[in-house]
Order: sequence, then C-alpha cells, then structure tokens
Amino acid sequence: MFKKLKDKDLKLPERVPQHVAFVLDGNGRWATKRALPRTAGHKAGATKFEEITEYCRDAGVRTVTAYTFSTENWKRSEEEINGIISLLEEYLDDVIREKYKKNIKLRLLGDESRFPEYVREKMREAERKTANNEYNLNLCLNYGGRAEICRAFNILAESGKKEITEDDISANLYTTPVGDPDIIVRTGGDMRLSNFLLWQASYAELYFTPTLWPDFTKKELYDVFYAFSGAKRRFGGYNVPEKSIK
Ligand code: IPE
Ligand code: MG
Repeated sequence: MFKKLKDKDLKLPERVPQHVAFVLDGNGRWATKRALPRTAGHKAGATKFEEITEYCRDAGVRTVTAYTFSTENWKRSEEEINGIISLLEEYLDDVIREKYKKNIKLRLLGDESRFPEYVREKMREAERKTANNEYNLNLCLNYGGRAEICRAFNILAESGKKEITEDDISANLYTTPVGDPDIIVRTGGDMRLSNFLLWQASYAELYFTPTLWPDFTKKELYDVFYAFSGAKRRFGGYNVPEKSIK
C-alpha cells in the first residue's frame, strides 16, 4: 500500500536554487476550462503566486523573479488588462499594509511609464516600504528582454563608454541588483522564453511543465528544486569544483 505524499512530508534537496525565475503561464486556459472569465484565472494565478513565493522563501531561495506582464500583453482586451492592473493594485496595497512584514523586498522591473500614475505611486511606495527586507521578489511588468538590453546599451552610450563589455551590460539591467537566475520555470506547456530575461538566461537551467500556473503545487516546486540539484553546472568549462558554483 502506498500512502499519498502529503505536502508536509516533502523533503528539500541539499542544494536549492538561490534565484528562481517563473514564466507564469496558463491562467487564461485554467479559467476557460472552468467556463470562467479569464480574469478569474488571473485572480487564481495571483493567489497561487503568493503561496508559491512563500514556499520558495521558506525553502531558502533568496530571489524570485516573475514574468507577470509582458510588453506584448497590452494587445489583450481592455477588460483583461484592467483586471490584471486591479490585481496588481490589490497586491501592492497588501504589501504596503501587511505583507511588508514577511521579509519581502519587492522590486517592479520593466518600463513603468505605461501604467497609470496612481499605480506607479503604489509601486514606488511598496518598494520603499520593503527596501530594508531580504527576500527579493521581482515582478516584471511591461517587461521585455530585448528592450532591457537596448536600454542598457543606451545608458552606456550616453555615458560615453567606448568599449562595452559583458560586465557593463550586466551592470545596467533591471535585474542588476539580484543577478542572474539559476533556473527558469515556465508553466503552461510552451517551451520558449518569450522575451524573458534573455541576457540573464545564458547559464540558467530551464524547466518546462504543462501544468497551468493556477494548478502549480508545492510538490511540483520541489520537483523543480530536485531537477536543479541534480543538474551539474559547468558553465561550458570542465569540472568546476562545487564550491565555485554560485
Ligand atoms: C499568464 O497566463 C498570465 C499573464 C500573461 C498575465 P495567460 O493569460 O497567458 O494564460 P493562457 O496562456 O491564455 O492560458
Ligand atoms: Mg499565455
């Protein structure tokens, strides 16, 4: 007889990734399958996000970066976009009122300029309020990987720098304070990056799953951790001693 594995029985591997990035995909399909409006899928996705980020924090992950709204997402219906912005507002209000106590250090990454001023004000307030915390939580909003790299080039061009190095580009990204992800997880079945963290993905492990984001579980998160801990990372060289691997 097999006992069904309960969440509380889940054991962590010895090594968990320090920085996990998520492409949260599948909210719309999750809702459609239940004959619900797409916004209901985003609401379920937002709840799931809070749950999973807490599991990550408790497991010892130091940084989570999530692709929550891409530059392409503006093509969606006004109703859907407004629904996503309302959820974002709710989340920011929550962080400002309560959640800042949970040690999260929130950063909003991307081009904020397309969001209404009152939302941008909340973004800044949530960042201010959590600035002294330790667990990095990055929400990529109106984010595009190529745009981020162009932005870095423009900053460097303006600075007058002649010979641009890889380190210069790495030093001028939205993610600069938190570094590159160790693993990128994409839910929803598509096996592509969709313009997410293009520069930063160079040495990241990639984990794709057909699970729709609102159905993602703690068990599957632990599968991600095991997939990461089993993978030998050599950065294109030979046997790098374990100690030198970040
Ligand atoms: C991802 O879910 C959430 C956002 C892009 C905001 P989708 O809305 O892309 O869900 P599907 O892919 O249509 O199922
Ligand atoms: Mg999608």
